[in-house]
Amino acid sequence: MSSNKVLIISDLHAPFHHPDALAFLKWVEDKYDPTHIIQIGDIIDANAFSIKFDRDPNGMGGSEEMRRAKLFIQQLAKQIPLMTVLEGNHTDRIAKAAKKIGLLDDMVKTLPEYLEFPDTWQFSERLTLDGVTYIHGDRVASSGGNLMQNGIKLYMKNIVFGHYHARAGIDYLTIDDRVLWGMCVGCLVSQETYAFDYAKKSSRISIMSVGLVEEGCPRIIPMLLKKNGRWDKNKQWEVNMHMDEMSSDIFYMIGDIDDDMATRFLSWIHYKESRTTCNLTVYISTYGGNLDDAFTIVNAMKSSPHQIITVGTGKVMSAGVIILVAGDIRLVYDDCSIMSHQFTTSTGFQKYHELANASSYFKSIHKKMVDFLFKACRKPITKEAVEGVLLKETDTFLSAKDLFKLGYINKVISIDRW
Ligand SMILES: [Fe+2]
Ligand SMILES: [Fe+2]
Repeated sequence: MSSNKVLIISDLHAPFHHPDALAFLKWVEDKYDPTHIIQIGDIIDANAFSIKFDRDPNGMGGSEEMRRAKLFIQQLAKQIPLMTVLEGNHTDRIAKAAKKIGLLDDMVKTLPEYLEFPDTWQFSERLTLDGVTYIHGDRVASSGGNLMQNGIKLYMKNIVFGHYHARAGIDYLTIDDRVLWGMCVGCLVSQETYAFDYAKKSSRISIMSVGLVEEGCPRIIPMLLKKNGRWDKNKQWEVNMHMDEMSSDIFYMIGDIDDDMATRFLSWIHYKESRTTCNLTVYISTYGGNLDDAFTIVNAMKSSPHQIITVGTGKVMSAGVIILVAGDIRLVYDDCSIMSHQFTTSTGFQKYHELANASSYFKSIHKKMVDFLFKACRKPITKEAVEGVLLKETDTFLSAKDLFKLGYINKVISIDRW
């Protein structure tokens, strides 16, 4: 399996690119650290040079359009010094216009010369890397079946293409014994400009996204937008954090144990149930929280087919202790602050029946804690001892070594900090 990570920058159509395209691409580069970057064609629009479509009389002239396109190319080259730029039907417009008036090839500058591409950029019709073909895709039939599958059938390879601004997706097709995939990567254009007036007649709006091929697997990275069409960087961080958390085998349970934490944890662990991973690690640092939410987390851990390693670090207190000792393997850093106590609540009880109800609730939850801590102990212990050590009336502060001696954890992690 190749360790290459290929970022595919979709159609840009400079100078009609999305105003936040560069900032979004910087974020994507920093986030995914690609080994190769390919711009999949239509890096410029060349609107003023179309011989097929009428020019918008309100639009800018050819000179101004190309001045702005070159400026964007300079900025892009500064940000991405190494890149392969593929030909597209829009970058072909200039050569086609020259041919139309009968100019010979050597009378006309090549596109990289004219646009002043840096020497470190390659310009070609297509690129094949790790068995995947990258091409602009204007020859892929958009009607008559599934677009991505049409791309696979046309090239009979794993295929990545752009061109179709309103399409971003991945599909698979079995041909003989091979399962092939095709990915269309969307675009990074500013749809509001006159250059895309033709698309306004269509019900399909442009999809802002780029593609990533990592270890042979294709993936779309959408550019998340605000209502005003600008890039929503904060939302992008938030969603990505969630995606990272879901794909990771490590869960960071840092903060209060509440229903938000339980929701995040249950989504993560249920997502993991469909995966083949054997070990999941849960780092815990918490002052505690809601005990019912803690038991929701514990139930999910105990129902998981995977081995769960809990690691206590920083502070593991109150409800956090219950979660820590629910791990199949439990590790605690030697300087971790641990505190255990009886179930407490800050809810004020005003009336007799509330107090009576609360009393039975307290009894049942205290019994649940005793039973749980009794079963979670790896050494012989009595329920009276559990109550006497971990569920005292006052807060009980313990060290990692204390928990180890009691039989609640497998190992104390000692590190040489200096
Ligand atoms: Fe395009
Ligand atoms: Fe195109």
